[in-house]
Amino acid sequence: MEPKTSFSLVILVILSISMAKFSIPAKADHNEHKETKISVYFHDYASSDLFVFDDLIIEGPDPKSASVGRGQGITVTACLDGLNVYVSLLIVFTNEAYNGSTIQIQGNNNQLKVIREYGVVSGTGKFWYAKGYATFENYFFDPSTSYSIIRCNISIRH
Ligand SMILES: *[C@@H]1O[C@H](CO)[C@@H](O)[C@H](O)[C@H]1NC(C)=O
Ligand SMILES: *[C@@H]1O[C@H](CO)[C@@H](O)[C@H](O)[C@H]1NC(C)=O
Repeated sequence: MEPKTSFSLVILVILSISMAKFSIPAKADHNEHKETKISVYFHDYASSDLFVFDDLIIEGPDPKSASVGRGQGITVTACLDGLNVYVSLLIVFTNEAYNGSTIQIQGNNNQLKVIREYGVVSGTGKFWYAKGYATFENYFFDPSTSYSIIRCNISIRH
């Protein structure tokens, strides 16, 4: 009987140690999460290099509205019919509220959809541990110059 009892005791001790180790940080994390919603406008001059972009991001649809930061990244065709593009995009904020912080957006979506939705996979600065989603929709498009204004709504928990 004796060896069996001490074996169960060891299991019990290991279990309580691992529970103690994981339950405390998980609780602290939960309390710190907050939700932020951001709506901004990308000024996109479809560049000659189709796979790289570096757009000015502003507060409102009016080209004269205040700048918020830059959207820098790559787009790559990611299916055989050419409709889906894989996007990896970093938003680098330069406005007063989030200066220096970034949000990383990634995903694969049909480029002809009216609303394209991608995942927010990470962030830095004020957006540590960011997770969420971002939608992109054309707000204005000039086919003669390929200039467009794209509204980007971001919803994140961080
Ligand atoms: C953002 O940070 C940079 C570098 O620290 C600084 O030069 C700039 O003035 C800041 N911009 C705003 C809007 O606070
Ligand atoms: C983006 O946000 C604006 C302003 O809140 C809203 O009017 C618009 O419907 C949103 N777009 C999407 C695709 O959710």
